[in-house]
Amino acid sequence: MSNSFIVKNPATGEALATIERDSEEVILQKIATGNDAFQTWKKTNAHERSKLLSKWSTLIQEHKASIAEVMTKENGKPLAESLGEVDYATSYIDWYAEEAKRLYGRTIPSHANGKELIVQQHPIGLVGAITPWNFPAAMMTRKAAPALAAGCTFIVKPAEETPLTTIRLVELAHEAGIPEDVIQCVSGRGRVIGSLFTESPYIKKITFTGSTPVGKQLIKDSAATVKSVTMELGGHAPVIVAEDANIDLAVEQTIITKFRNAGQTCVCANRVIVHESIVEEFSKKLAERTKKLVVGNGLDQKTDVGPVINKGSYEKITDQIADAVNKGATILAGAQYDVDHDKEYYFIHPTILTDVTEEMDIMHEETFGPVAPITTYKELDEAIEIANNTPYGLAAYFFTDNYRIGNYLFNHLDYGIIGWNDGAPSAAHVPFGGMKESGLGREGGIEGIEPYLETKYLSIGNLYE
Ligand code: SIN
Repeated sequence: MSNSFIVKNPATGEALATIERDSEEVILQKIATGNDAFQTWKKTNAHERSKLLSKWSTLIQEHKASIAEVMTKENGKPLAESLGEVDYATSYIDWYAEEAKRLYGRTIPSHANGKELIVQQHPIGLVGAITPWNFPAAMMTRKAAPALAAGCTFIVKPAEETPLTTIRLVELAHEAGIPEDVIQCVSGRGRVIGSLFTESPYIKKITFTGSTPVGKQLIKDSAATVKSVTMELGGHAPVIVAEDANIDLAVEQTIITKFRNAGQTCVCANRVIVHESIVEEFSKKLAERTKKLVVGNGLDQKTDVGPVINKGSYEKITDQIADAVNKGATILAGAQYDVDHDKEYYFIHPTILTDVTEEMDIMHEETFGPVAPITTYKELDEAIEIANNTPYGLAAYFFTDNYRIGNYLFNHLDYGIIGWNDGAPSAAHVPFGGMKESGLGREGGIEGIEPYLETKYLSIGNLYE
């Protein structure tokens, strides 16, 4: 088996770099080093950790243009989105640089004379992170920043499709003064590193963003050493457009949540469920707006939608479109492909399907691509039933100006993240994560640092008569 791999530009097939995979010995050595480094990093005071994180963020911002260019080349997303992702990535570092200083404990009023009851938060230890290709910067900093802020050491395995952005961010962390053993990058096959991480007694926490099947395996394997896990897994986001919705707003926000990163985000809209009285107007407007999106190489300033990441993605998406059409769906926009199998690039034009029914695969499988299937409902409870009819529970969106409808939907949708008249709810200072098979735990916000902390309770007795 080859011990190196080539990172390719998904827009052109051009080889960008050859990366050596670390041997098992090297990975185990890095894990041991990360564990040793924990013994000193945890004693670095919170204000010092905060300053180092801020310096890291500043350096990333100073190199924003070059990082964004590398990201676009290895991931394919438009340059404007890569620039936005660099900001998104540093917003996590900035947020947790502040949170490092606010990891308060508490004193609990005692039930007995001469006793004091004290609670403190301690870092959990060395963290093993496995990050995805769709957000090579932000998904790394969303994990690394709270871990380092809490006093944990960190070792990351980036996706083989997009390691270059992560490698650069880790270099900049070292340049900022964060010790080399405190944040490390390992390279190798997911399955090999996943096993080495989960088997290691030194790694105290696994944090993963990726598919639900891989997440389930990591959870299972982590049981052997009773590791803490944070899992950001698949999604199948519904968008409900209510009878009274502002249709233009719903169209614009659906475009944002559906076609960002060529539909390759876990929180992308996957099913659009529209009240039957407005479906014609909504679908027509959505299709018109979709046809204006420019598909191409992300380095071209005009591009709105880049390629999908690889052949596997392309086949899954086009199979879903074909299945829907075979079962009676109508194509209102897109379903055109610019593909070169030799060069290995795959562009899918943003696609709108109507007359979609529950029998179609696209209504049950995560698409991870630029396709919006539209189905209809009569009564609100029917929309909720369609929306909740999935093992996933990450993000859901709805559009209504009616407070009662909005409140009802918020309370009945089984999702961890909900956007009400809002297609872009993610931010560093809010909790991101899913219910059901979409994951365990939350990242971002005050919730996002808790998984990197252990609660220690001290009971002191015999203090006074
Ligand atoms: C993801 O796709 O997992 C991340 C999307 C986001 O942070 O908004």
